[in-house]
Amino acid sequence: MTEKRKPHLSFDEFDEVNYPRPQATDFAGLCERLLSRRDFLSGTAACGATAFLMSACAVAPPGRRAAMGEPPPFEPIGANTLDTVTVPKGYRWQVLVRWGDPMWSAGKPFDHATRGTATSQTLAFGDNNDGMELFTHDGRSILAVNNEYTNLDIIHGNRASRKPETADDVQKTKNGHGISIIEIAETGRRWTLVKDSPYNRRITADTPMHITGPARGHALMKTKADPSGTTSLGTFNNCGSGRTPWGTYLACEENVNGYFSSSDPELKPSAELTRYGFGLKDWGYGWRRVDDRFDIAKHPHEPNRVGYVVEIDPLDPDSTPKKRTALGRFKHENAAVVVARNEHVVVYLGDDERGEFLYRFVSRRKHLANGDNADLLEDGSLYAARFSDNGRGEWIELTPAATGIASTAEICIHTRLAASAVGATTMDRPEWIAVNPLKAETYCCLTNNKHRGVKPNKGGDATPAGGPNPREKNLYGQIVRWTPDNGDHTAASFAWDLYVLAGNPTVHQDNRKGSANVHADNMFNSPDGLKFDSRGGLWIQTDGNYSNAKDFAGHGNNQMLLGDPRTGEIKRFLVGPKECEVTGIAWSADRKTMFVGIQHPGERQGESHWPGGGDTVPRSSIVAITRDDGEPIG
Ligand code: FEO
Ligand code: CA
Ligand code: CA
Repeated sequence: MTEKRKPHLSFDEFDEVNYPRPQATDFAGLCERLLSRRDFLSGTAACGATAFLMSACAVAPPGRRAAMGEPPPFEPIGANTLDTVTVPKGYRWQVLVRWGDPMWSAGKPFDHATRGTATSQTLAFGDNNDGMELFTHDGRSILAVNNEYTNLDIIHGNRASRKPETADDVQKTKNGHGISIIEIAETGRRWTLVKDSPYNRRITADTPMHITGPARGHALMKTKADPSGTTSLGTFNNCGSGRTPWGTYLACEENVNGYFSSSDPELKPSAELTRYGFGLKDWGYGWRRVDDRFDIAKHPHEPNRVGYVVEIDPLDPDSTPKKRTALGRFKHENAAVVVARNEHVVVYLGDDERGEFLYRFVSRRKHLANGDNADLLEDGSLYAARFSDNGRGEWIELTPAATGIASTAEICIHTRLAASAVGATTMDRPEWIAVNPLKAETYCCLTNNKHRGVKPNKGGDATPAGGPNPREKNLYGQIVRWTPDNGDHTAASFAWDLYVLAGNPTVHQDNRKGSANVHADNMFNSPDGLKFDSRGGLWIQTDGNYSNAKDFAGHGNNQMLLGDPRTGEIKRFLVGPKECEVTGIAWSADRKTMFVGIQHPGERQGESHWPGGGDTVPRSSIVAITRDDGEPIG
């Protein structure tokens, strides 16, 4: 028996309603801490702290005015609730590729009546595109794109139950997940998918993977099908992306718990499984019905083999993707890679769940400008962030000595438990992280957290309001940024501030109105996607409440904005169609085309028919945006 997601619940809300984690009962302790926080805020120190938090975006100190190229010129657009993509005057968009578009001649055009089959989906662009990166080789453009999940209501909309009813239905969703690697080309200012390109590849929930890093071969990774604990099948719920300086693509596994269920209704999942949200029921996918490994009663170690960053060579369709366990196991959002000035490779990573943590990986070996860097993500040190209210923070290394966990391998498997053990700061759902290409500075979207100051995280860690998570019952989200000491991304400590505190100044006058750089003409909620362009412009994509009512009145549909890190200015550039999320961004080699992902239009009430219009099935798609004058966008 599987659960169907209620139309009024978001993906995350569904998880919590159906699989509530044990709550810590230390209410007295929590109250005490909240009181301490109130005392702090009511004292003179509070003035400094609040002023510190709120001023960061209002006035940029002279030191922040690093060289930045001219941002693309545009008149900001207004919010709207239209069922289309809106961009500023002087810009145009076209659909590049949609869910179900065939990637090979053997595939059939998308069938709006059946919404495809398992076979047609194997030959077609996957569903719910998310993170993406564009690679160029011999003048050709290869786009690697995550296909995060499938909307059961939409992909099974041909069934009266709107659920998977046949084995083929179930397999269709498995094949709709994973990664699509497509060659694309521009002819006459129009971008299209190159069918039958030798680069085209579908990676699905069944593609063989190598397990690498400290957890490779550990007892917790061994299953009946893989007694060596070194190979696994498939990757799914790939959310944000990353790219390495050596030309590989990183696909980050996020809500992997939603695919597993138990054939034994009496099973008591372990505390470790519970911390990660694995329970007796899945989220309606029914994969256990066609694939035994999704049965946690029979294969309790299978969940230990998901929740990683997967490294893929986008130019070699025959290569085997590598699960990089050294980067930890949690609900990965994206992977922001930077070569530190001492040549070690640093990867910033967020765990997108209420009250989970921010992480940093530092490679053991150095990046070699002309050497073999293929396995730099194989081993290194993993850290979790601890923020102080005074604008300082530190990275705590997750070692057996510090965490009390027996081995590095187990830290890489039960990373959340390790970060809890060292007292890392519980965050407001870290989504995408982006490293400024012009200076040593990193930004992270903290999308929202209705539990902030209300209840602990799944590990029982308290979540008092404070530091970079300053608001109780945080509706709107914020973007935190930090500067590593001495400009060194491997440094042990950093200084932080808030780039923006999202809000609604037309509805609220308390801290829910947002920071000084939020106003009636640019307001938004739930920042999620985040990427710098080559000129240092910060593109912000939202995945939030699109009701356009009450707390969210005037916010309209989900959107994309351009932020100036120097001044704090934020301008709305794009509004997506109804009930979508805007996620994933990439640029052509000449920077004259910006590719933007539109995910799950019509996800709840089915009010969207974008992009086809009429009575067509709404389809997640990537749009290509260009300037009328043909000049670069970022
Ligand atoms: Fe898949 Fe946290 O977004
Ligand atoms: Ca996201
Ligand atoms: Ca989100």
